[in-house]
Amino acid sequence: MRQFMNVLIGQSVLCGLLFLCIFASPVMAEDQPIAFSHKLHADQNQIPCQYCHLYARRSFSSGVPPVSVCVGCHGTNANPVIKPESKEVNTMRDYWDKKEPIPWVKIHDIPDFVRFPHKAHINAPSSRFIDSAGQSCSGENDRSLDCKVHLFKQGGDERCTACHGDLKAMDVVQKVDKDFGMMGWCLECHLQVKGAAERKSAMSTMGGWFRAKEEDEERAKKIQLEDPRGFHSANLTDCFTCHY
Ligand code: HEC
Ligand code: HEC
Ligand code: HEC
Ligand code: HEC
Ligand code: HEC
Repeated sequence: MRQFMNVLIGQSVLCGLLFLCIFASPVMAEDQPIAFSHKLHADQNQIPCQYCHLYARRSFSSGVPPVSVCVGCHGTNANPVIKPESKEVNTMRDYWDKKEPIPWVKIHDIPDFVRFPHKAHINAPSSRFIDSAGQSCSGENDRSLDCKVHLFKQGGDERCTACHGDLKAMDVVQKVDKDFGMMGWCLECHLQVKGAAERKSAMSTMGGWFRAKEEDEERAKKIQLEDPRGFHSANLTDCFTCHY
């Protein structure tokens, strides 16, 4: 029995180590089914992010482009256009013939109990931030909060950089922030939005509890929670804004 336990323990330590080895290592090009390069497409060939990630401003998920988007430029096996001889592009054309999606490995992922709508972020007006936030960046690899808000305020495809870093410089997609998608990572930016810090201290007293509705209305006016687009903006630090 003891020997059996030792074997079991030995095995789980080994599995644990193996697990660490597999998941602690950065993503390698060969982990993706096709060696697709953002640097080549988005930088050298100047294809806009949202030409491929067309759902970013329209839905919760940005999603990866369907094979039909690749085929639109590269053509099919029967009628290849750009890079007809490329082994990597032919792998894509084979998926098209098989009518199968390309099984890309997902890099940026947060738990399913968190609500993250891309569209709300891509469409948010830059004026939602407090005036002192997002002044500037110091250099290309600046990942300070001030720089991220600065990038976010540029709008358009530049906004992706605020959270995902400079994809145009990447052959292989990597996460640039170690704490990407952690609760504090979300909240430090949300606290730069008008009204969020004031909301944080809301309803902390019994008085606040009983007069909640009136106090909410007064506060909404004072901190411009009433959005120029005519709807009431979400309270960016409330638990139920991000959690179901
Ligand atoms: C808007 C047009 C366009 C779209 C859409 C597009 N590509 Fe490309 N792709 C290009 C161009 C242009 C090149 C560079 C060709 C060259 O260097 O001569 C390229 C190069 C490549 C290469 C490198 C080929 C090699 O062997 O050098 C791969 C792999 C590739 N594309 C895969 C894809 C995949 C997968 C998709 C879909 C997710 C896709 N492409 C979508 C235009 C496009
Ligand atoms: C030609 C199409 C194309 C263009 C243009 C493009 N992407 Fe992508 N993107 C893809 C494909 C295909 C994947 C999945 C494969 C991969 O991860 O490399 C992807 C993956 C990603 C991911 C990682 C998804 C994950 O799994 O976490 C991010 C983030 C991303 N793209 C952002 C951008 C940004 C920002 C730009 C503009 C600078 C951009 N993309 C331009 C096709 C494109
Ligand atoms: C405010 C931060 C933020 C901004 C801005 C942002 N993203 Fe994301 N992105 C995320 C988070 C968080 C996830 C993980 C979502 C999940 O797992 O549910 C993600 C996931 C993705 C993915 C993986 C597929 C998916 O939809 O889950 C792609 C591709 C992507 N983003 C592309 C983009 C592009 C392109 C832009 C700009 C047009 C953009 N993102 C702007 C935070 C951001
Ligand atoms: C770089 C800044 C930034 C980061 C990082 C960020 N957000 Fe946001 N988020 C915003 C802004 C700005 C808005 C305000 C949109 C508006 O009011 O128009 C917003 C709005 C939201 C909303 C409300 C959408 C609605 O229905 O109006 C949710 C939910 C949300 N964010 C979730 C998240 C989660 C979850 C994360 C982390 C995974 C995150 N955000 C990270 C800037 C950010
Ligand atoms: C701006 C979005 C946002 C808001 C607001 C927010 N959370 Fe979270 N929360 C997240 C994200 C993202 C995660 C996932 C982090 C991770 O991957 O561990 C998370 C994780 C959690 C977890 C799980 C922690 C764990 O270790 O598994 C709990 C519990 C939690 N949040 C409670 C709260 C409570 C209580 C509030 C309100 C006071 C709140 N959250 C407000 C985004 C948010």
